[in-house]
Amino acid sequence: TAEEAEAAFDAAVAADERIEPRDWMPEAYRASLVRQMAQHAHSEIIGMQPEANWITRAPSLRRKAILMAKVQDEAGHGLYLYSAAETLGTSRDELLDKLHAGRQRYSSIFNYPTLTWADVGAIGWLVDGAAITNQVPLCRCSYGPYARAMVRICKEESFHQRQGYESLLALSRGTPSQHEMAQDAVNRWWWPSLMMFGPPDDESAHSVQSMIWKIKRHSNDELRQRFVDICVPQAETLGLTLPDPDLKWNEERGQHDFGAIDWTEFREVLKGNGPCNEQRISQRRRAHEEGAWVREAATAYAAKHAAKSAA
Ligand code: 3HC
Repeated sequence: TAEEAEAAFDAAVAADERIEPRDWMPEAYRASLVRQMAQHAHSEIIGMQPEANWITRAPSLRRKAILMAKVQDEAGHGLYLYSAAETLGTSRDELLDKLHAGRQRYSSIFNYPTLTWADVGAIGWLVDGAAITNQVPLCRCSYGPYARAMVRICKEESFHQRQGYESLLALSRGTPSQHEMAQDAVNRWWWPSLMMFGPPDDESAHSVQSMIWKIKRHSNDELRQRFVDICVPQAETLGLTLPDPDLKWNEERGQHDFGAIDWTEFREVLKGNGPCNEQRISQRRRAHEEGAWVREAATAYAAKHAAKSAA
């Protein structure tokens, strides 16, 4: 009966077991997963743009090879996540159509421009660092295909984070103008990175239910705090300053206090009014249209093979 199915679902979640595609699940659980996983997949794909901007201008062959590999990894993460979302009964086409029509979101962070080479390092250190902080707990998400996808993605993300850190360290220890460029990038990326974790807990529409379902294991503010505490000593080693005069260790809490986030800016970016929203989405639509022939050719090839093996 329906009650038995629901009780089995609740018991599985309570016992930290995984929900698998063929298991019964509440429609709202399914919808919330599709929402979050689609947003996550879209972020990986849109996230290729700001960094790809520097591939042709990387300062050395070594840096160029690393950056190309990293941008390819992001594409792989996107495809992996779209496949995981498909296990919930949506198609990749449908999700992409929604992204292109502005009906599904991607992370606010990718609506900021990459103005200098140091931004590539800052993205690796801060943006990928924030992504890992948010995503490691998702390896324990109650939905099996999402949790398993996150294991591999997190391994690659930690490599990305290290390459960004190493690149930024090289700049910070370089000439005075290189150091200045690294500091400027950190100044611009710090606050938007903190916004990646989503709105404050008391304004987070989905957190409570997602935590009951064990899709999310920690609240937005908890993960944001964890990220700040991780970054402070790393910034010291880098010889760079985090642009927050209110950032200081709080002995009593055993955590850092930090300044107020500009939530107006966050809301504006979500509404489509960030510095690069229009550019990102129009570039994505153009890439999709220009790739139509590849999809058609691949479909024709698959059909030909299927016909051959059936014969
Ligand atoms: N950017 C854009 N939208 C955001 C956002 C952000 N930084 N933070 C929150 N939102 C949106 C939510 O999607 C939600 O909108 P919706 O109802 O239309 O879906 C609304 O703001 C309210 O936020 P909630 O806190 O209620 O939403 P969630 O409970 O879903 O929490 C989240 C937000 C923490 C981002 C969560 O969805 C999550 O953990 N997502 C998976 C990870 C992810 O998407 N990461 C993208 C980062 S980039 C990345 O991974 C690429 C890497 O290579 C750098």
